Amino acid sequence: MQSSSGSGLPNSHQALLKNQHLLSGRLALLGVASAHLLQELPFSGLAMSEHAGVFHALERNQNWQACFGYEDSVLAQGNYDSIVVFLPKVRAELEMRLALARSLAADKARLILVGEKKEGIAGAIKQLKAVAPQAFKADSARHCQVWCAEAIEPASGFRAQDWLTWGVAECAGVTVEVAGLPGIFSQNGLDTGTRSLLETLAEQPIRADRLLDFACGAGVIGAWVQAWQAVREEPVAIIDGVDVQSQAVICARQTYQRNRTGGTIYALDGLLGLEGLWPAIISNPPFHTGVKTDISMTEQFLQGVKRHLKPGGELRLVANSFLPYEPLIKRYIGRVERLHEDSRFTVYRAFRNN
Ligand SMILES: C[S@@+](CC[C@H](N)C(=O)[O-])C[C@H]1O[C@@H](n2cnc3c(N)ncnc32)[C@H](O)[C@@H]1O
Repeated sequence: MQSSSGSGLPNSHQALLKNQHLLSGRLALLGVASAHLLQELPFSGLAMSEHAGVFHALERNQNWQACFGYEDSVLAQGNYDSIVVFLPKVRAELEMRLALARSLAADKARLILVGEKKEGIAGAIKQLKAVAPQAFKADSARHCQVWCAEAIEPASGFRAQDWLTWGVAECAGVTVEVAGLPGIFSQNGLDTGTRSLLETLAEQPIRADRLLDFACGAGVIGAWVQAWQAVREEPVAIIDGVDVQSQAVICARQTYQRNRTGGTIYALDGLLGLEGLWPAIISNPPFHTGVKTDISMTEQFLQGVKRHLKPGGELRLVANSFLPYEPLIKRYIGRVERLHEDSRFTVYRAFRNN
């Protein structure tokens, strides 16, 4: 999430509120980071967030149509007179968000781009001007810049599928195809931490008929585990996945489909709203919010994961070696072993003790 001050809203949302005079007609907000924004805006329209937790909070607001990321049936073409794009963390995602904005634009729609200086709004202007050369800076406020482009050129038919790319991930002689979308974790190949986790899964497999992959990203772990089991002609486990990000959920479903992986992908913020007990849970969990190290999400996961792990069930987790997870795993789950350790990553294994 973006940094905030004063009202508790992210700076970019405060900067928009200060520039409300730029908004008129039917409104679309793309990349909302806090649902509280809607209460401050005397408008209605579409509010999109790619974060499942924020999306669920948006759904509680009756005057607005909530939308989960880039693939949602409520995304109707050509309907909006003012479209606000909040700057995403990843530049490639801005391109996709701008394309979505143009597809939502009614005739003569106004586009407003808002972003923090420290998140790179200055560099993003080149991308904005590529699609709207008439854009001008309307304001600098709350450490943000607000850019405006009148009468943007609408574009037809945005489809998240058109932005999908495919890569391959290979580990221990088993290869799977992995979907990618702008903004997703490790789009350009298998992450080193994920690789360490997969290597331990090849050396010390988990014997369970159903697994949960928490923070599944593009679904690489689930697809690889099933492919590895199939190659060995072992019983193939169902591998469910959870991720908070719209792009991750889209990609994980695509990856599963392409590799014929069995399992359900849930769009959830942490374990909130998850029901069920699994004999084993695996994870390469998040450890930052934007660019800052932030382990609070994983701490919450470790606190709550026991409720979803069968007694005696295994938790297998990879993390940067400097992160202080071992005492937490011991406290919340049970005795911990390190299956792999190097200067960057440690793979932990723990069994639910009661
Ligand atoms: C380190 S990546 C791992 C992705 C994938 N498992 C892999 O190994 O390539 C962490 C993932 O956690 C997801 N994430 C971040 N916050 C989350 C949350 N609150 N609930 C669920 N997933 C979250 C991110 O979207 C990201 O896909």
